[in-house]
Amino acid sequence: MNRLSLERNKIYQGNLLLVNGSCPIMGRGERDLIPADIHFPEILMRHDAAVALQQILKEIDSADRIVPVSGYRSKAEQTAIYEETLKEKGEEFTGKYVALPGHSEHQSGLAIDLGLNQEEIDFICPDFPYEGICEDFRKAAPDYGFIERYAKEKEEITGISNEPWHFRYVGIPHASVMAFHNFCLEEYLDYLKDFPYEGRHLEVHVENKSFELFYKKAEDDLTELTLPGYLPFQVSGDNREGFVFTLWR
Ligand code: DAL
Ligand code: ZN
Repeated sequence: MNRLSLERNKIYQGNLLLVNGSCPIMGRGERDLIPADIHFPEILMRHDAAVALQQILKEIDSADRIVPVSGYRSKAEQTAIYEETLKEKGEEFTGKYVALPGHSEHQSGLAIDLGLNQEEIDFICPDFPYEGICEDFRKAAPDYGFIERYAKEKEEITGISNEPWHFRYVGIPHASVMAFHNFCLEEYLDYLKDFPYEGRHLEVHVENKSFELFYKKAEDDLTELTLPGYLPFQVSGDNREGFVFTLWR
């Protein structure tokens, strides 16, 4: 048996943080940042996300046809982008495509905007069409833990307009489960609450690997639980009120 004791502020750490208009970034998302691509040393992501991104680009043999456009942003950078876009493009456009400072996934280091490598690349809305090499990326992404975050049909839920270029690292096997059910992150985290620690857990099989997933609401102080045996596991906060556990079976 493996006894765990988690402090409440751990709900603000991990790959499954929900960051949106009503959930601001709370924790220190900027830990372990590395370049998303060695050719673009100024565009950073969290370590595991950057490694997974490189694996996808290698798998689809993108060479330099896809480039990173924007990765980790500090709050000051998100504020500058927000204010500049507001000035240049107005309120409606900004509300559609730029998250409020403090509410951007880019501040977590888990998001990346990608663009087709062409002469002119728009910083806010880069071209990343639903065809060719970009679609190859999109299809391969879930196997490596990435999801397209802002789909057209989820605009009402995410509060952000369709962004074909914005990808979010959530990790394995979560991205595959989300793709299978066509869940956006808000829907997925709600779905996981149906599999509480105390009840039936979710069994997931992805590419010959089996996982067990469950949700545990955080206590005010310490959240204590016992995991079966010595299984490899990961825990992520949801940035709201609890934890998602991922056990490798
Ligand atoms: N473009 C996304 C929504 C952001 O600003 O975080
Ligand atoms: Zn983005």
